[in-house]
Amino acid sequence: MSDTLVTTSPAEIPTPTIAELEADPHGVFRRYRATMSVIGHEGLGFLVLRAGDIDRLIRDPRVRQIETEFALARGITGGTLLEFFTEGMLTSNGAVHRRRRSPFSRSFAARVIAELRPVLRRNAEELIDRWRPGEEIDFIEGFAGLLPAQAIAGLLGLPPQDIPRFTQLVYGATRALSLSYAPEDLPDIEADMRSLKAYVEGLLAERRAAPQNDFLSAYLCDADQKGEMSALEIVIQVMQMIIGGTDTTRGAMAAQVSLLLQRRHQWDMVCRDLALVPAAVTEALRYEPSVASVGRFLQEDVELDGLTLPAGQMVTLALISGLRDERVYHMPDVFDIRRTEQPRLHPVFGGGPHRCIGEALARAELEEGLAALATRVPELEPVGEPFRLLGHFGIRRVSPMRVRRAR
Ligand code: HEM
Repeated sequence: MSDTLVTTSPAEIPTPTIAELEADPHGVFRRYRATMSVIGHEGLGFLVLRAGDIDRLIRDPRVRQIETEFALARGITGGTLLEFFTEGMLTSNGAVHRRRRSPFSRSFAARVIAELRPVLRRNAEELIDRWRPGEEIDFIEGFAGLLPAQAIAGLLGLPPQDIPRFTQLVYGATRALSLSYAPEDLPDIEADMRSLKAYVEGLLAERRAAPQNDFLSAYLCDADQKGEMSALEIVIQVMQMIIGGTDTTRGAMAAQVSLLLQRRHQWDMVCRDLALVPAAVTEALRYEPSVASVGRFLQEDVELDGLTLPAGQMVTLALISGLRDERVYHMPDVFDIRRTEQPRLHPVFGGGPHRCIGEALARAELEEGLAALATRVPELEPVGEPFRLLGHFGIRRVSPMRVRRAR
């Protein structure tokens, strides 16, 4: 691993400021993408903008997952935050990555998750049925955040009464995976990550002492038998599953409902014909992805469009830009659930060995959640400012979102 990172790009490549990218990621990427496949990034090497290049590089063996490069570049040099990067599946490679990820693969496989759909639908309906007619609802807190938290809690075996505690810790801790914090915020983010770790350690200690019929107990038993992972690795993988399962789907749920409610005709189409739900979810994940980009590290020089990206640098694959690439999508800045040119594998979930392990779960939650809303509250109205997903790197932040149940 190299610790020599570029902080500025070669002079001939334009480098928008982080402030510009945060303020209007779509606008900045649209402007450059027309004529350039790669631009510089103020702190993270290069940004790759086009769908074809992103798809190729994410599976290119010369381009590996970042390990601690991003953390170190962001001033994270120790504590639980650094452990999150050194011990977790997300930021590891090769055999280490495989042994950290594989214990989860079966439980999160599409066919297993498909059986959960009736439970997810029922959970969503129960949340909606709490809303009184005419009431103004905090949609993030009362629905978009709760449904994924309930699902991951149910799957892993976390007590439902812990949801308020672990969700708040996750929302704080995931800031480490964005560029939305200043150096002085790091102690707070570290405190949330440390508390999340203590929470998971407590749960695992309980399961060791008294195994139950749940995922965590089976995971521990399996890990202990195999003996391939340290106690710290076991804790960090569970933290990554909780984090992955809590935050990204919250943003995606709010975005899809907001995008549809702002275009009443398309919302009404979905309410009239639930067969359109999967296409609506796919289009919302394209139009406003809740994960903006993934970071990678160049192990060798890579040629891109006549430019040599040098070995030893970080590169950011800007999914948010590729998902509006004019080369793939017709009129990409239009939200249209009737699109027919969506790729078979949705790029929002990444690609290669790190492709999202929670994809099937996320889709099931988003589809069942939307179907429940379309059936139970077709008269739902947006209230106040339209919802926004914010940020151009990693997991995007959510703005407030309020809705009203009209009758
Ligand atoms: C709309 C919702 C979601 C989106 C957009 C999303 C997106 C992504 C992306 C792009 C990656 C690849 C990261 C990389 O290559 O660097 C990823 C990995 C991951 N996701 Fe998701 N995700 C979502 C939901 C979930 C859910 C529900 C879970 C939990 C069950 C989850 C758990 C994970 C984990 C643990 C990884 C790391 C996998 C690995 O490194 O092998 N995600 N996700």
